[in-house]
Amino acid sequence: MRTKFALIGCGGMGFRHLLGYIEYLRHDKNLDLVALVDFNEKSSSFLSDQYYEHTGKRLDIFKNYNELITSNISLDSVDIATTNDTHHEISSWAMKQNLHVMCEKPVALSIKLANELIDVQNKSGKKFAVFENFRRDPINRFTKFIIDSEKFGEVLYAYDFESSFSQGKVMHGTGWRAKKNKGGGIVLDAGIHNADLLLYFLGPVKFVNGQSKILLPQRKLITMEESNHNLKKFYGHRIEDYESSISINQDAVDTVICSIVFESGALGSVLISDAIPNLKFNESWIHGSKMSLKRSNSRSGKPISLKINEKNYEGEKLFDLFPNFELDSSTQQVFGNFDYSGFDISFEDYDKKLIALEYLDFINSLKNDSNPEVGIIEGISSLSLAYSFIESGYVEGQINMSDFSSNGNQKYLI
Ligand SMILES: NC(=O)c1ccc[n+]([C@@H]2O[C@H](COP(=O)([O-])OP(=O)(O)OC[C@H]3O[C@@H](n4cnc5c(N)ncnc54)[C@H](O)[C@@H]3O)[C@@H](O)[C@H]2O)c1
Repeated sequence: MRTKFALIGCGGMGFRHLLGYIEYLRHDKNLDLVALVDFNEKSSSFLSDQYYEHTGKRLDIFKNYNELITSNISLDSVDIATTNDTHHEISSWAMKQNLHVMCEKPVALSIKLANELIDVQNKSGKKFAVFENFRRDPINRFTKFIIDSEKFGEVLYAYDFESSFSQGKVMHGTGWRAKKNKGGGIVLDAGIHNADLLLYFLGPVKFVNGQSKILLPQRKLITMEESNHNLKKFYGHRIEDYESSISINQDAVDTVICSIVFESGALGSVLISDAIPNLKFNESWIHGSKMSLKRSNSRSGKPISLKINEKNYEGEKLFDLFPNFELDSSTQQVFGNFDYSGFDISFEDYDKKLIALEYLDFINSLKNDSNPEVGIIEGISSLSLAYSFIESGYVEGQINMSDFSSNGNQKYLI
């Protein structure tokens, strides 16, 4: 029996999930998309037409996720790609309706709400997969392999600086991303990927200290079409809640500069911003006692490089150093053999392959009755780390990560 699911949220990422699901179907058939849900019927109809073009199959369309139950369609799970403020409400509802959950990051808008999901999941016994895509990049899998190896030595220091100067625009032309109580802000919405990767590579964090600020509170809301963004193809159909071309007051933090102490003893520095004029920069390093690794920008396909005693190692030289690296079978199935020189794949293809891997991970967790790679617990860890970057600036002091992620007291969200 195939596992039937409904995709809830048919905006930009909902469309990318649909393309990722179509890619998934090339590798596995156990998941069966049966319905689409969005407040805006124009968005769900667009996805439905796209799906029909690719597969010749029509999908049921609903405006409200409650109708998935009242309509009596047969369903086993939901896939949530709605705005961040709705993840907790829809995923709790789903588990209480006896449905498994796949959910975009962040697992919830606040740490308190995310912690509540643990109890709901324990009572329901349902699977919960957080769609955290960056760690599934084959180049990030290789990065992890190197850092965990003896040859890398002790991990000493991680440096992660990402500044994507927005020229005063709201990210992705989506008004909700300007509002902390709708999306958390860029440091949460995009920075959660930085947080998840730091945790994936270096393990749990003990303390965070830092500064956070809204550097650019007045933002222009410009649609993707107008801004000619590279994601415009995915967002062209979506309906914006706010009037287009207006100025929005952004109350979400847009810049953090932090220091991290990992439980292992390693140190880290993080900058995340979309507000520093003319600073467009994305560079991350991990330094071990025996070598340093320059990370690839996730989803770029660009290779990593190593520095050992001042000498650079790239491409096939990495094979000589790490000949035993192998991708797991799902990643190999979707991406083919690992290429030490990187992957020359368009963003659209890269993106859909990573999303296909998320569907494969979810279906494997059902088949094997195991946990998906990123579940509620891992989702809370990255949520807490991303929010700690902001919170340390608000409380003007050090954040103790284990207290912060369990008590969930966030001055920022009050
Ligand atoms: N993993 C990634 O790389 C990545 C990238 C972009 C977005 N995302 C995540 O995907 C989610 C969606 O982001 P987006 O950029 O597509 O936003 P979006 O505004 O384009 O899409 C959100 C859609 O959800 C619909 N919606 C909101 N609440 C709903 C509800 N209660 N019931 C039904 N429909 C509802 C809206 O009408 C809209 O169509 C966010 O959680 C975001 O963090 C993840």
